[in-house]
Amino acid sequence: MEKTLSIIKPDAVKKGVIGQILTRFENNGLRIAATKKIQLSQKEAEEFYAIHKERPFFKDLVEFMVSGPVVVSVLEGENAVLKNRELMGATNPKEAAPGTIRADFAENIDANAVHGSDSLENAKIEIEFFFSKTEIL
Ligand code: CMP
Repeated sequence: MEKTLSIIKPDAVKKGVIGQILTRFENNGLRIAATKKIQLSQKEAEEFYAIHKERPFFKDLVEFMVSGPVVVSVLEGENAVLKNRELMGATNPKEAAPGTIRADFAENIDANAVHGSDSLENAKIEIEFFFSKTEIL
């Protein structure tokens, strides 16, 4: 059993598709071990995406992530990291396979509906960023 972190980004929250996205996880063997709706501060968004600090899109990414509430969740299941990434589809929605979350709900590479941990190692770090142990059940 693996755990991974999912973020439903401000564009998808604004569209009112939180339930539809969480249902996709549950219908595909990913149990919701924790979930909450939060407003990221500038500092939190910068810290969470620190790995992209030097990339040209960093400023826009942080600005977008603080533009409205997000829903952060811990998903648990077999091969959860990979399964979540398959359900999300490619980072750029124009390249995302039909039927994936990004193909169905995302507008562009910045407003791309969801984030998911890219490795088990990063999943652990990202889960600890948002959740205490007692919140994960
Ligand atoms: P996410 O999985 O949240 O990780 C970093 C985010 O940066 C990514 O999704 C995209 O929304 C955003 N981004 C913007 N431009 C790019 C790019 N050229 N390559 C990768 N990610 C990008």
